[in-house]
Amino acid sequence: MASVRRDLAELSRRGLLRGAMGLAGLAALGPVFSPRLLAQALPPGDPFRLGVAAGDPYPDGFVIWTRLAPDPLAPDGGMPPHPVPVAWEVAEDPGFRSIAAAGQALARPEWAHSLHVEVQGLRPHRPYFYRFRLHGLASPTGHARTAPSATAGADFRLVTAGCQHYEHGLFTAWRHIAREEVDLVFHYGDFIYEYAGRPVGAVSAGRSTIRSHAGGETFSLAEYRTRYAQYRLDPDLAAASAAHAFAVTFDDHEVANNWTGAVGGRGEAGLEFDLRKAAAFQAWYEHMPVRRTALPQGPRITAHRRLDFGRHVALHLLDTRGARDDQPCGDGTKPPCAEVARADAQVLGPAQEAWLLDSAATRPATWQVLAQQVPMFARTFPNGAIGMDKWDGYPAARARLLHGLHSRGATNLVVLSGDVHSAYAATVAAEAEGPALACEFTASSISSEGDGSEQRRGTAALLAANPHIAFHNNRRGYALQHFTGRHCFATFRALPFVSRPGAPVEDRARFVVAAGDVALHPA
Ligand SMILES: [Fe+2]
Repeated sequence: MASVRRDLAELSRRGLLRGAMGLAGLAALGPVFSPRLLAQALPPGDPFRLGVAAGDPYPDGFVIWTRLAPDPLAPDGGMPPHPVPVAWEVAEDPGFRSIAAAGQALARPEWAHSLHVEVQGLRPHRPYFYRFRLHGLASPTGHARTAPSATAGADFRLVTAGCQHYEHGLFTAWRHIAREEVDLVFHYGDFIYEYAGRPVGAVSAGRSTIRSHAGGETFSLAEYRTRYAQYRLDPDLAAASAAHAFAVTFDDHEVANNWTGAVGGRGEAGLEFDLRKAAAFQAWYEHMPVRRTALPQGPRITAHRRLDFGRHVALHLLDTRGARDDQPCGDGTKPPCAEVARADAQVLGPAQEAWLLDSAATRPATWQVLAQQVPMFARTFPNGAIGMDKWDGYPAARARLLHGLHSRGATNLVVLSGDVHSAYAATVAAEAEGPALACEFTASSISSEGDGSEQRRGTAALLAANPHIAFHNNRRGYALQHFTGRHCFATFRALPFVSRPGAPVEDRARFVVAAGDVALHPA
């Protein structure tokens, strides 16, 4: 071990990353790593089976990610318990003839040999190609765009997607997303589901298992790692991951169904739930293209942040789980009990809420976009029931946030959400009889709940009782947003099936919102 420590000391002395070297491979970088580290034998097999990803683009760069795992479903990914140096390159062309930045980084066993390189020195609003190299083997090539500079009046396009239950359906939607012409994918969460594997064909809650999770319900770090690896082995997800920069957040199933704050969805709390959160957050970090600001500290993580895309878009990425009050009235969908009216209800928690109000006030942009998880618009079912896990369970928090944003001049507010495995377009009011202060687009799931149907039972009555809901669809799919200096366009794409391969993608609805207004108009 002493020799490894010496090697690492040498590494940190010389610096882990060196930009703009125009290298052809790791051999060209020999002096940076000691011969002992470079000569380490690795197990046979492709170390890049989990693919690549890029994330959190700035005008001068983005994060590039991979995780070395020649045996992805093994607890350690099939890697030996020592650090491994890996070369990386970012180029202006897919043939890597014009290198824009390059260097090397150390994949450490403590982080499951994952790599999160924060590339700098790139030009704004440009496409780039990236890859990793190890012992003569190259990773798949990824593609990502840098953000426009703060003063650029550029259009901005993104996909909103999430909820990818592996057992419920194929990830065909990701194959279609890979081909979309967008600047960014916002993945709101449910990247994995924590549930135990069920045999193929098993039916639960009306949904048939078309492929099985490996292992039981995830609790330990090794179990969460294996689950992420199984999902990232999916070729459709891998294609989308390599095709676009992502901005990721987590929803509930990255930890446990309907968890909030210090409480799991089944009432778990205290040290045991902290241990589960620590394992879940570490595995999430290890498998997501996020910056070091999102490094978890045991059971705590700071995942909220802002990404700027020129003059027109400030994208506020929120965490509606980590500091939220437990759901009122025992969770579920039911008529509200007295607890729903509590005045101090918290969804974001005081620190994140204050940050968001300040962030929206200090970053002028045509569109202030709240990229988050659970629907903010009101959904009152005909029997008076509301979803306690959504913002509907926390009306005082919703009103406080919307009034706070509005009073700070954030008038062009667009909310993005998911979680409910159905697509919606709606407007959002602070109070039931109050004016609309935001518009909202809720993406359906990639695969959760299987093939689905065009409408759910009771949809007509739901829409009649909620005139601010302009659209609902219960197929699987995703949403596209296109922001300009004058308009926000939203397109809902749907797949007619996910239980077998080859589904086409079809448009179900398209809306436009004019800057200065939040009303939804068919487009
Ligand atoms: Fe979900």
